[in-house]
This record gives sequence, structure tokens and C-alpha cells, in this order.
Amino acid sequence: MTHIEVAGADRIRTVVEDLERVLLDFVRTRGITHAQYRAATDLIIESVKAGEESLLFDVFFEAEATDVGNAGREGSPEAIEGPFYLENAPQLQGPVNVMPQRPDERGVPLLFRGTVTDVDGRPLPGIELDLWHADADGLYSNIHPGIPDWNLRGRFTTDGDGAFQVRTILPPPYEIPKDGPTGRVLRALGRHFFRPAHLHVKLRGAGFEEMTSQLYFEGGDYLEDDVAGAVRDGLVIPLVTVDDPARSTEHGFDRPFVDARYDFVLERRANTSASA
Ligand SMILES: [Fe+2]
Repeated sequence: MTHIEVAGADRIRTVVEDLERVLLDFVRTRGITHAQYRAATDLIIESVKAGEESLLFDVFFEAEATDVGNAGREGSPEAIEGPFYLENAPQLQGPVNVMPQRPDERGVPLLFRGTVTDVDGRPLPGIELDLWHADADGLYSNIHPGIPDWNLRGRFTTDGDGAFQVRTILPPPYEIPKDGPTGRVLRALGRHFFRPAHLHVKLRGAGFEEMTSQLYFEGGDYLEDDVAGAVRDGLVIPLVTVDDPARSTEHGFDRPFVDARYDFVLERRANTSASA
């Protein structure tokens, strides 16, 4: 999709000219010299060369843009996509879905389950959840080296009752890449590089708006000072530790696990009737 298709030609002119005015005023009032201006443009070029063009902007601006979409939403809140999403993750086979993982995948086993309904509380069968998250070292497959392709990335669908469950491992808080241009900027600002532990998820279904969100865990570190500023009310869920061998066996784990639930609410597309 082109930029024009996303925004429309009139909208492009309005916002770009407004942004131009804001930046011109900024250059003038902050006394930005030509050398400083060139350093800023070089930083953007460097970030592209380092593959960080998304990271650099996502860390500073993506959460705010997501909030614009959340204003007035009836469905579950959305959260940032971040730079590590990949399309076409493996399709998992339910009813108990197991995320692709190494035989000796480290980390606390996690059972993530819940339901998907529409805004009127009706269960939604056949909704696709596209889940991706970091491993125990805070690294993502297909992005960071040394991890099997598609590890801890998978798609699965809600059952006839609009319910889902998936077995995976609990991701830790992690530092975003800090050795490139984005890290230099954050270091200069005296900021840390951590994000709180989180699951990334997209939901899709015919007739519904695709939504992108993240879930965080109560009591975790960096909930209050996420480097990306992306934690939102309604997205922080409890983790219940289950230390009962019978229940571990019931859910296919060989050791104690943590149980996390979240019930998603999806909004119908504006031009789709409730009976469609
Ligand atoms: Fe992430």
C-alpha cells in the first residue's frame, strides 16, 4: 500500500505542510546549525544502513500513533507492532497449540489462553491469532542469529466457542538493540534500553478490523519505564504459577508452568453488519 493510499492526497498535503511548519519553527527557535541539521539527517541514513529505520522511529513515536487509534475504540486496546514482526509464521495445529521451539527451549513454560468476542460479547470462532515473542535470552528468531527460523512465532485460530490456548515459554524483559544509531541516541539521553516482558499478537478475521497488540505481565520489571513507552492499561495481565504435577501433565508440560489469560474484543469493519 502506498503512502497516498494510506493517507489520501489531501491529508498528505495537510500533515506534511503542518510538520514542515513545526520543524522549521523548531530549527529556528532551537538555533539548529547546519552541522547539527546534517548530523540528524546522517543519523537517519545510518539507521537505515544498520537496518534500524523502524527501530529508531518505533522507540520514540509508535506508541503515540497507536494511542490515536485507541481513542474511542470499543475493542481491546492496541499496542505497538515493533520492528520484529514477520508475516507467514507457521500455522499451528490445535486444539492445544504449541509454539515452534527448540527441544531444550529455556524459560518457564507458559500457557496462554483466552477468548475472542465481538464488542457485544458474542464468541468468534475461526479468528486467527498471530503470536510472536522473544526467547529466554530476549532474542527473536529470523532477526537475531543462532536461532532456528520461526522459533516462537506461530499462527492459530479460535475454536467453535471463540476460545484459544497455546503452549510456549514466558519471555523476559529484554534490551532493544543498543549498539547502533538508536542506542547512541538513547545513551545520549541517559535512557536504558529495556522493554518489559511481553507477547506480541495480531488478530485477524473476515469482517473484522485486524488488530495488533501486546500483553505484559503484572509485577514485571520496566512496566513503568518501558524504553518504547508502550505499556497501556488493560494490557497488563496476571501470571498464575501452577505447581501441581497433575495440572502440568494435563496441559502437556513436564514441570511447573505459569498460566496467563486474556480475552480479546474485536471490532467489526465499519461497513460490515453484525449479521454478516
Ligand atoms: Fe518485542
